[in-house]
Amino acid sequence: MNKKIKKIISKKNRSKIVCLTAYSKNISKILDRYCDIVLVGDSMANVLYGMENTHKISLTNVIDHTKSVKKGIKKSLLVVDMPKGTYKTVKAAKQNAKLILKIAGGDAVKLESNNKNYKIINSLVKSNIPVMGHIGYTPQFKKKFSIQGNTKNKAKKLVKEAILIERAGAFSIVLECVSTKTSKMITDKLSIPTIGIGSSSYCDGQILVTDDMLGLSGFYPKFVKKYTNLNRAIEKAVKQYSKEVKSIKFPKIKNFLNE
Ligand code: KIV
Repeated sequence: MNKKIKKIISKKNRSKIVCLTAYSKNISKILDRYCDIVLVGDSMANVLYGMENTHKISLTNVIDHTKSVKKGIKKSLLVVDMPKGTYKTVKAAKQNAKLILKIAGGDAVKLESNNKNYKIINSLVKSNIPVMGHIGYTPQFKKKFSIQGNTKNKAKKLVKEAILIERAGAFSIVLECVSTKTSKMITDKLSIPTIGIGSSSYCDGQILVTDDMLGLSGFYPKFVKKYTNLNRAIEKAVKQYSKEVKSIKFPKIKNFLNE
């Protein structure tokens, strides 16, 4: 097993796993110093491309952004989302995951669970492709946002799904918007780490979409903590630039290039 993957697994019950998303080098370079995992999320569909959901982002988009992100990574594990429709069959999943690893430079792929694709996860793992699972609110398969695992029956189903993903060979699993009790139950039951987003601090690690926590995306549900307000900072800088260009305060002589 890959050293970076072993390190992530070994953190379970020892120290929390820090994860964030990145779509470009400038951001990944900063994240790499503080994160265990950097995810090239298919959330780029909404966040970067302004799409309504994640369904139409292409493998080419994801590969191109991974190449950029990879340039900023020295030590963290680089996990890459497989876009919807790219892992429908064992053959397609293997082919596309290999492109993500070999051409783009990812260390692992993340697949959303549809409660059926255990065999696909297993075949990737058997081909030496590390897989991160993703259960709970899975934007590729669920139309409407809702809290997951919040009844006894739903919790039981979610725990079973998580166990089957672990058995299929995944090295960790994202729990998205899973109720507090169920996220604790899953985290206690599994021997692989759980990474929560909107799923309580009982998870072994946490992930957020970087643009959300930086106050850039404008998407701030309850589970997102806005650590800064980049929107405001960027607006202030751009406004000042605009003013200075119009009033010929910029560029100054010191900014001129002499022949
Ligand atoms: O696409 C993404 O950014 C994700 C995280 C929200 C876990 O899947």
